[in-house]
Amino acid sequence: MVHRHTLEDVDMPTQQTVLLVGGTGRTGGRVLRQLLSRGIRVRAIVRSGRGLPPDIADNPCLMVVEATLLSLSEEELQRHVRGCDAVISCLGHVLSLKGIFGSPHDLVARATSRLCRGVEALQPPAPVKFILMSSVSVNRPGRLDARRGAFERAFLWVLRGLLPPAKDNQRAADFLLAKVGPNNAFVQWVVVRPDSLLPGEVSEYASHEGLVNSLFAPGSTNMANVAHFMCELVTNPETWAAWKGKLPVVVNASSKLA
Ligand SMILES: NC(=O)c1ccc[n+]([C@@H]2O[C@H](COP(=O)([O-])OP(=O)(O)OC[C@H]3O[C@@H](n4cnc5c(N)ncnc54)[C@H](OP(=O)(O)O)[C@@H]3O)[C@@H](O)[C@H]2O)c1
Repeated sequence: MVHRHTLEDVDMPTQQTVLLVGGTGRTGGRVLRQLLSRGIRVRAIVRSGRGLPPDIADNPCLMVVEATLLSLSEEELQRHVRGCDAVISCLGHVLSLKGIFGSPHDLVARATSRLCRGVEALQPPAPVKFILMSSVSVNRPGRLDARRGAFERAFLWVLRGLLPPAKDNQRAADFLLAKVGPNNAFVQWVVVRPDSLLPGEVSEYASHEGLVNSLFAPGSTNMANVAHFMCELVTNPETWAAWKGKLPVVVNASSKLA
C-alpha cells in the first residue's frame, strides 16, 4: 500500500502537545519548526538550549527543558510526559568517533524504553502516540521486508556487530514491536524509516509498507519530508490509523526506486 502526501495536505489547527527529544538535531530541528508552525505546543528536552535556533526560542508554544534525557529520574520523566498527546524521538548518535563508539551505545533504545514506560506508568485515558525516527537499515520482523536479500541481511548483521548506532536503532524498534506491542492501551507507535537523509524543503514524498530500495542502491528522503510525515502522524487521524504499529519507509517521490 502506498500513501502519497503532498504540500496540499490540510493542516488543522490543534492544541495538541508533543514531547520532542532530539530537537537540536538535523531532523529534530525541522520537526520542531513544523510542529510550531502548525500551532502545536512542544516540550523539548535538550542537552543544551544553545542547539536550538534563536528565532524560535521565544515562541510561546515552546517549552524547553535542559536536561540529560537518560539521567532524568522516572518521576522527572513522567512529569514531562504527563499531558502529552504524542512523543517524538529524533535522537541519533553524533557522527564522531566518540558519538559512534562512546557511551551511551543504547541511546535510542534506552530513551524509547524509558519514555514508553513513563507513559504506561501514567495510564493516560487515551493512548499516547510514540513516533520514532529510525532508518531503512532497521528490519521489520518475520522477513517482511522481502526486498532485503540474504547478502544484505548478512551485511547488516555484521554492521550491527561493528557499529553501536546500527544495533541501537534495531533494538529500539524491536522494543516497540515486542515489548510495547500492537495493542497497548497506553502507547501506540510508528517507526519511521527514511532512506539517506537530504536537506531541502518539503516536497512530494511517499510512505511505503516495506523497503523500496537496497542499502547498496539507496534512495533519498528530505529531512523536511520526514518532519512533515511525523507532523501528519500527530495531526491527521487518517495518517495515524494507516500507520500505527507499522514501520513505514518514507522516500522522496523524486527518488529513483530500485
Ligand atoms: N544520516 C542518514 O542518512 C540517516 C538516514 C536514515 C536514518 N537516520 C537516523 O536518523 C536519526 C537522526 O539523524 P539526524 O542526522 O537528524 O541526527 P543528528 O542531527 O545527529 O541529531 C541527533 C540528536 O540526538 C541528540 N543526542 C545525541 N546524543 C545524545 C545523548 N547522549 N543524550 C541526549 N541527546 C543526544 C543530539 O543532541 P545534541 O544537539 O545535544 O548533540 C541531537 O538532538 C539517527 O538515529 C540516524 O540513525 C540517519
